[in-house]
Amino acid sequence: MGATTTYLTGIQTSGEPHIGNYIGAIKPALAAAGAHETLYFLADYHSLNSVKDPAKLRHDIRAVASTWLACGLDPQRTILYRQSSIPEVFELSVILANVTPKGLMNRAHAYKAARDRNAAAGVEDLDAGVNMGLFNYPILMAADILIMETDYVPVGRDQAQHIEYAADIAQSFNHLYGDTYRFPIPEGDFPQGDASVLPGTDGQKMSKSYDNHIPLFLPENKLKKLVRRIPTDSTPVEEPKDPDSSVPFQLLAQFASAEHTASVRARLEAGGMGWGELKNELFDTLNTEFAPMRARYDELMSPDSDLDAILEDGARRARERARRVLAQVRSAVGMA
Ligand code: ADP
Ligand code: TRP
Repeated sequence: MGATTTYLTGIQTSGEPHIGNYIGAIKPALAAAGAHETLYFLADYHSLNSVKDPAKLRHDIRAVASTWLACGLDPQRTILYRQSSIPEVFELSVILANVTPKGLMNRAHAYKAARDRNAAAGVEDLDAGVNMGLFNYPILMAADILIMETDYVPVGRDQAQHIEYAADIAQSFNHLYGDTYRFPIPEGDFPQGDASVLPGTDGQKMSKSYDNHIPLFLPENKLKKLVRRIPTDSTPVEEPKDPDSSVPFQLLAQFASAEHTASVRARLEAGGMGWGELKNELFDTLNTEFAPMRARYDELMSPDSDLDAILEDGARRARERARRVLAQVRSAVGMA
C-alpha cells in the first residue's frame, strides 16, 4: 500500500442515475474526494451484460459521466474514466481468472439468483439465459479494483460480496506470486444504517431495474408529475398519519434539513397535512437541491461539451497507473 489511501468506485452505465444512487453512492464518494486519492469510473463493459441497444449504451455512458460531474466531481482531484478505455483491466481479468476457483463464482449472488429464477419457473436447465459475462462479472470487478491498487471501495451494501470476492482473489494471487508482487487487499466502505437505502416509488428498494426510480435530472415538469404519482393511501387530510411508512416522507427526510423534516413529521402525526401537500414539499425540496446541478448536467450532455475531453484526460491518467501495475503483475506471473 502506498502512503496515500486510494478510493475507487464504479457505476454501471445501464440507465440514468437516480436519487438512490446519489444518496447511496455518489454523495459519499464525493465526500471522500477531499482527503484521499480517488478514482471513479464508468463500468461500461459491465453494463454490456444488460444493455444490448448500442444507442442506449452510448447515451447512458454520457449520462453517468455527466451526473458525476454535475454532482460536483472535480476532475482535477478525482480521476474520472471509462473502464473500456483501460485495456489493462481486461488483461488483468484474464490473469485473475486463473487464480479464481470456479466454486467461488458458483456462489455469486447474481448468478445464484438467475438459477433460482429458472428453478422457480420450472425451467430444467438452471443456467438457461445465463451468459459468461454474468458468470465472470465478479472477476472483471476484481480486476477494476486491483488494477488501481485500491484500498477502499465506497459502495452500497448490495455490493459487499463482490468486494469480498476481490479480496479473496487478491489473496490467492498474493499467495502464489507474493514474493515478487502483492496486491493491497481492498475493503468496502459502506454507508451506515438502512436509512441510506432509498425506497422507490412503489416502496421497494429504488432501482433502475424495478422501474420505480426517480432519475436525478428529470426536467422540472416531469419530476413534478412523477412525485405526484407516488402511491399513497386515502387517509383524509385531517387524520393523523404515520410518516415512517410513507415513501414521500422517507424521501423528504434524506434531502430536507433536520428542522424541516421534524416539522413535517409533527404535522403528519398531528393530522392536518395531506399527502398532496407532502408531495408538493418533496417536489420543492428535490427541485431546489437538483436544479443547479440539472443545468450543468444539460450543458455536459450537449454534443459539443467538454465531457469527452475530461474523460480522455481521466483515461490517460488512469492508464498510466494501470500500465505500471500490470507490468509488475506480468512479470510476477512470468509473462515478462
Ligand atoms: P441500480 O439498482 O439502480 O441498478 P446500481 O446497481 O447501478 O443501481 O448501483 C450503483 C450504486 O448505487 C451502488 O453503489 C449501489 O449500492 C447504490 N444504490 C443503488 N440503489 C440504491 C438505493 N435505492 N439506495 C441507496 N443506494 C443505492
Ligand atoms: N457492480 C457495481 C454495481 O453494480 C459496479 C462496479 C463494477 C463496481 N466494477 C466496480 C463498483 C468496481 C465498485 C468497484 O453497482
